[in-house]
Amino acid sequence: MATSTARRIAYDPFAREVMADPLPFYRQLRADTPVLFLEKYDTFVFSRFQDILDALTIGNNAFIATDTTLPDPARLLRHNEGKVAELPLDPMPIGALLGSPHYEVLRQAHIKPFRPRAVLELEDFVRTLANERLDALLPQGQFDLTLDYGGIVSASVVCRLLDMPLDFAPEVLALVNQLSLTDPDGGGTDISVTIGRGVEMMVEFIARRRNAGADGSVPMIDGLIRLDHYGRPLTDVEIATQLVCVFVGGTETVPKITAHGLMELAAAPDQLEEVRTDLDRHVPIAIEEMIRFCAPAQWFARTAHKDVTVAGQQIRVGQRIIVLFGSAGRDEAEFDEPDRFVWNRRIPRVLSFGAGQHFCIGVHLARMELRVLVDAFLRRVPSFRFDMDRALRLPSSFQWGWNSLPVIIG
Ligand code: HEM
Repeated sequence: MATSTARRIAYDPFAREVMADPLPFYRQLRADTPVLFLEKYDTFVFSRFQDILDALTIGNNAFIATDTTLPDPARLLRHNEGKVAELPLDPMPIGALLGSPHYEVLRQAHIKPFRPRAVLELEDFVRTLANERLDALLPQGQFDLTLDYGGIVSASVVCRLLDMPLDFAPEVLALVNQLSLTDPDGGGTDISVTIGRGVEMMVEFIARRRNAGADGSVPMIDGLIRLDHYGRPLTDVEIATQLVCVFVGGTETVPKITAHGLMELAAAPDQLEEVRTDLDRHVPIAIEEMIRFCAPAQWFARTAHKDVTVAGQQIRVGQRIIVLFGSAGRDEAEFDEPDRFVWNRRIPRVLSFGAGQHFCIGVHLARMELRVLVDAFLRRVPSFRFDMDRALRLPSSFQWGWNSLPVIIG
């Protein structure tokens, strides 16, 4: 499938109107220009579900995120002009920017707490946190469902995984939320300050684990401390750098999906009633539709390290691709009436967690947190509505979701 110029599409991931509501742009792209070439960024944009899946599963280091998975406009404006060098390993950069085998070596070193059994063991902890939040929030009569409920719970889970005291959760949440603040003129997100502060926060606790002997009881950190693949131990800062995606990914996404998903149910009382008839059976089904419909991550990028053809489009070494996950979830070739929220629709496959090498490491944890948060809320709250006049969905090229959703109980 070649890039079409049938109708010119004013899509730019950093354009103010795209960041405010990308969905109409995605619809038009899928229909008219499923592979769009953005000359100024030397980047191809893929909007159809199947093309995105094909691009991400090519393997063989055809694509590596050398330009980062979330390049800002300045980075994309600098064209690579041919071959791109892989990054040096000393100091060790974040694994997400590396190809095989380094990506996998670093990922495997901290994957243990994300395995299904480990996640199951965390479930009681998450349920207790959810209920403690509801104990504190429900008497207030109204609160912010994104930040005060799911936000604090998810940030607390991140703290536990990173061996940080739980009272750091509000600080972690506030820091990660800065990533949603975009420069409306320049577009993009200046993530360096936020990431730097996150690394600073984690370093202290990594050093503590190292001094305590890193016996494996905090597997996320200990696994990286004990990594001996590179003939030298990683430093505390290098380890914290590896954990940035967990710090952000674990805090940012689940709260927005929880709040947005409950908002969709409140807007469709018949659906809410059906879900309520058997929470044990229906909530695990309903969260799958929430993941399809509400997942806030809009896109990620890769850089071609080989000449490669995707969906009939030739891509030269050094050029970039952007895959629009936000569009894949709304692809009418994949889902009937994709813009309708239907709590029990059939979802044979989904791209909200990505695909291929970078497939979300937190997928099981995310599903468990969503299930527990939605279930605990519906059990405790017989009736609720939203104050949409005060709801906030900031323009964002990256995490387009409900930053703030005030809920009114009763
Ligand atoms: C429903 C919630 C979540 C969604 C929709 C989601 C979505 C995604 C997506 C789309 C990717 C692929 C990025 C790419 O292709 O470049 C990804 C990767 C990742 N996610 Fe998640 N995520 C969620 C929850 C979590 C949680 C709970 C954690 C950790 C506690 C987490 C940590 C990560 C990490 C570490 C990566 C790998 C990044 C990389 O290798 O570039 N995510 N996630």
